[in-house]
Amino acid sequence: MEVKTFDIEAIRRDFPVLDQEVNGYPLVYLDNAATSQKPTVVVDSLRDYYLKINSNIHRGVHHLSQVATDAFEQTREKVRDFINAEHSHEIIFTSGTTEGINLVAHVLGKKVIEPWHEILISEMEHHSNIVPWQLLAEYTGAKLVTIPITDEGELDMEEYHTLLNENTAIVAVSHISNSLGTINPVKEIIASAHEVNAWVLIDGAQSAPHMRIDVRDLDADFYVFSAHKMCGPTGVGVLYGKESILNELPPYKGGGEMISEVSMEKSTYADLPHKFEAGTPNIGEVVAFKSALDYLDEVGLENIAAYEHELLAYAMEKLSTIEGIVFHGTAKKKTSVISFNLKGIHPYDVGMILDKLGVAVRTGHHCTQPVMKRYDIPGTVRASMAFYNTKEEIDRLYNAVLKAQQMLS
Ligand SMILES: Cc1ncc(COP(=O)(O)O)c(C=O)c1O
Repeated sequence: MEVKTFDIEAIRRDFPVLDQEVNGYPLVYLDNAATSQKPTVVVDSLRDYYLKINSNIHRGVHHLSQVATDAFEQTREKVRDFINAEHSHEIIFTSGTTEGINLVAHVLGKKVIEPWHEILISEMEHHSNIVPWQLLAEYTGAKLVTIPITDEGELDMEEYHTLLNENTAIVAVSHISNSLGTINPVKEIIASAHEVNAWVLIDGAQSAPHMRIDVRDLDADFYVFSAHKMCGPTGVGVLYGKESILNELPPYKGGGEMISEVSMEKSTYADLPHKFEAGTPNIGEVVAFKSALDYLDEVGLENIAAYEHELLAYAMEKLSTIEGIVFHGTAKKKTSVISFNLKGIHPYDVGMILDKLGVAVRTGHHCTQPVMKRYDIPGTVRASMAFYNTKEEIDRLYNAVLKAQQMLS
């Protein structure tokens, strides 16, 4: 689909960091799956917060505290709207996707998980969506079960349906794989899990920046993502949880903000969302996150998805012509992540040469070692695109890969 309303030059002007040279070449930033760049409005918002309204929130009667509290809570409401949650108190601010998953795994361990339970995750998960569940299985005695992936890098859905059973307590899968780019059928995954009364956590770290998320349409029990991958600041993440479930679960961390009353004998806890937000949060960064979401809304997530799809198709067409290139992750439904290797050449060496030519990609296992094991490779070269990338930059990537191949063969 051709995107008509996309003013790429204007968009690129919003990201000053893109306008620089690296090793004597104009920078081509293709490491967006690791973190996105930030538009000026987000940096301005962060600066304004610290220069004009910095204050601790929720506790003060004074003016600045109230202004800061309002700004913080406006982001919560913006996130609610952005993912179409029913209530803003279903939005819990965390430090990122990793903390959101750890929070859920930890509190499930305190109250819900029994030794006879099964925890179902997939072979394509980021380590953040593997290790917390391994820890949970370890300290509860529950069994960790893995959904395998196919040669193309899709979830083996037949196997998923076989593995689901009455003992499954929680299913945790990524919406989009960070190393393969696969878009998983999460709506179907959630519906099937609910048939056996299992809850589902969706790791949305790679989906929230690239497509419209509707947690109510998906019927997700938990949905987690990170601000820094969606044009926002680092150190901020979101855990969405259904009100009824969050109310049922015990607190995660203890401290200020999350209590109702404290005596030396016993404490009672605050209502949602504060029950899960102990201590002083990353206030300025949360406030600036709203500017990032406003910005994404202005560009339009539908425009972003269509434009990135066009970039992906263009890049795949060009790169496929390179003899000896092997793609990892060729799912039918994919986002703008391309993982590849050049036959006989280590991905790290390719990445080094690309960097010398001003092209920033990531090499290695991308925190998905089981995926690398599945394909028996040491790692991949990963080019991950965002809506501010261009076809000219894809041409630069293509030429740099050819050059790396010439030099290293
Ligand atoms: C799919 C996926 N899950 C989880 C994470 C962890 O995100 P964070 O480091 O922001 O907590 C990432 C980061 O790359 C990711 O891609």
